[in-house]
Parts: sequence; C-alpha cells; structure tokens
Amino acid sequence: MDVLRCSPVTRRPIWFMRQAGRYLPEYRKVREQAGSFLELCYNPAAAAEVTVQPLRRFDIDAAILFADILVVPHAMGLDLRFEDGEGPLLGTVRDVQEVNALKQLENSWQLKSICETVALASEGIAKHVAMIGFCGGPWTVACYMIEGKSSDWQFAKLVAYRRESWFIRLIERLVEESVEYLSAQIDAGVEVVQVFDSWAGELTGRLRREFVIAPLSEMTRRLHERHPNVPIILFAKGLGTDHGTLAEASKCAALGIEAELSMSWAAGNIGHEMVLQGNLDPISLLGGEQIAASEAVELAKAIPSYRHIFNLGHGIKVGTAPETIGAVVEAVRNWDRAHASP
Ligand code: CP3
Repeated sequence: MDVLRCSPVTRRPIWFMRQAGRYLPEYRKVREQAGSFLELCYNPAAAAEVTVQPLRRFDIDAAILFADILVVPHAMGLDLRFEDGEGPLLGTVRDVQEVNALKQLENSWQLKSICETVALASEGIAKHVAMIGFCGGPWTVACYMIEGKSSDWQFAKLVAYRRESWFIRLIERLVEESVEYLSAQIDAGVEVVQVFDSWAGELTGRLRREFVIAPLSEMTRRLHERHPNVPIILFAKGLGTDHGTLAEASKCAALGIEAELSMSWAAGNIGHEMVLQGNLDPISLLGGEQIAASEAVELAKAIPSYRHIFNLGHGIKVGTAPETIGAVVEAVRNWDRAHASP
C-alpha cells in the first residue's frame, strides 16, 4: 500500500498472480473437498481458506481474493462450467437481444458469495498484508462471452473491427457491472483492486484505444469517484510500448507489465515515476530455484524498490515447485536488504 501511495520504502512488496492454485498441494486438497473449481469459488469458507494459504508458506505482502474473472458474466446470467483440462465453457452473447437480456449483478447470489469470501479472508490475514480484489477487463471478459471458451479470439476481434453496435453496448455493460462488482468488493474489505485485461495485446492501433484503453480509463474514473483512496492496478497484458498511454489516460496507481516487455525499458520510458508491477517470466519458475532466483534478482536490479511491486508477467504455471516461489522471495528480499540506502 505504501508503494501504491508513493510513500518511500526500501523493501519492495511481493505477490504472485495465481498464487493460490493447483501448484499447491493444500489448494488441491480444498478444491477436491469443494467438488469443483466453481463450487470452490462460491464456497466462501473454502475460498477464503485458499486465499490465505500462500501467506502461510511465503513471506509475501498481499492476498488476492480467490474467485475468477468469469464470475461477472455468470452473475449476469450466462451458464458457466469449467471442464478439467479444457478451461472455461461460458454461454455466448452474439446479438443485441442477448446483450439486452444480460442481468445486473447487484443482488445476485454470486456477488453476495464473493463479498462473503472477502470478509472472511480479510479476517484471516495480518494487518500488514494487503487484500487485493479483482475483476477482468471489459475486452477480455467480452472475448469469453463472445467465443464461449478460450480461443485465438478471431471472432471477437472481427466483431470489434466491424464495431457491431451490440459489441459496443456489451463493453459499456461490462464497464458498468465491473465497477459495481469492484465497488462491492471494496465495501466488503478489499484495499486495492486489480483489473486483469489478459487479452489487451490482441487488439492493435485504434481498436486498442477504443476497447482497452478507453474502457479501463472509464472504469478507473468511476471507481476513483466512489472510492478516492483505493488504488487501482491495471494489468493490460501485452500493451508493450502502449502501457504509457494507458497510464496517462487512466491515472491508475500502478501498471502490470507482461514478461515480454523489458522492465528496464518500462522503468525508463513510462513517465512520472509510475509504479510498475511484474514481470518475471512464469516459465523461469519451472527451471527451479537457482534459475528463478537469479532471474528474479536481475528483475529487481532493473527498477528501484520504491516503484516496484514484484510479481510475474502472468500467472504461476501448474508444474511450479512451491519451493521455487520461496527461493524467489528470499532472493528479492536479500537483494533489497543489501541495497537499502541507510
Ligand atoms: O491469482 C489468484 O490466485 C486469484 C484467483 C484467480 C483465478 N483466476 C483462479 C483460477 C484470478 C485472479 C483469475 C483470473 C483469471 N481467470 C484470468 C485473468 C488472468 C489470466 O490468467 O490471464 C482469466 C483469463 C481467467 C479465466 C480462466 N479461469 C481460465 C482461462 C481458466 C482455465 C485455465 C486454468 O488455469 O485452468 C480458469 C481457471 C482458474 N481460475 C483456476 C484458478 C486457480 C484453475 C482451476 C482449477 O483449480 O482447476
């Protein structure tokens, strides 16, 4: 929270995207007891438990609410299933009638359940650990709503190129509902929110400005109005050299950076000392403790601790050894300790 508020620190905060997940045996156990991934998401006691699990193992600075970006379209009335090994299967929206049929998520049982998880998890973490809430970016969530499953997003991109009026309306609805969703998480106890626009980099040029940068900026503006003291992290994965445009347009507190962009480039070229989060390659963690720790130190060298939130460039992969995460945390802590100015 200090880094996000630009207070001086000498020890950079650390957390990991997908820090609660299948690479942890204790997660697999709770998920099995819950039945399925979705039943786990909507079981507040179990979801709160997996939210705090990583904090018991690692010396990290944040917990992220355990849920999924597809909770929003689910609460808006679309069917949602997760098949093992296949990823999500979501009901689709492909015309104006289907957009108009989408419900508001206010008063949905899904929203109530997620807010209950936030309240329970907040009770279970130490005061100095930040509680992060999240949702998906409008473009990324629209991708799943249009295609119904993971894809190369050809169809969603064509709909964007054609500027179909129902698509434009869908993006607007997602801005509205995502703001309501994050606002409810904040009221329930989250201290900072992150928007995951995982497929931002799939759009280029004008489309990127219209359907990634503008909606994320509008969400940020509305949230700042309602919750002026809650920092917002925008992870528009794959924006590359356009991250600076997003920072200026949105006035967010921090930007998530993908592994593909050099952190020293980002630190040197994204202006106004913007706080940057990321961007260790999650694949490096599969290389084991030595490789991962040495890459982590290289990353720490690329950006000063007062403007960096250490994280990955994308989520932890399933085969990652938990010990490797521990080794990365230790390496970054040691580097900061050795380089803290007196
Ligand atoms: O980071 C965390 O630990 C918090 C929880 C979290 C999950 N999903 C849990 C999850 C968060 C922040 C997400 C975000 C999410 N969900 C994104 C954006 C980030 C990204 O990865 O790009 C996206 C695109 C989704 C949609 C989604 N959820 C997909 C495509 C899949 C299948 C792929 C996979 O890894 O299995 C999921 C499932 C999912 N979400 C799992 C977890 C822990 C694995 C499900 C399981 O336990 O079987």
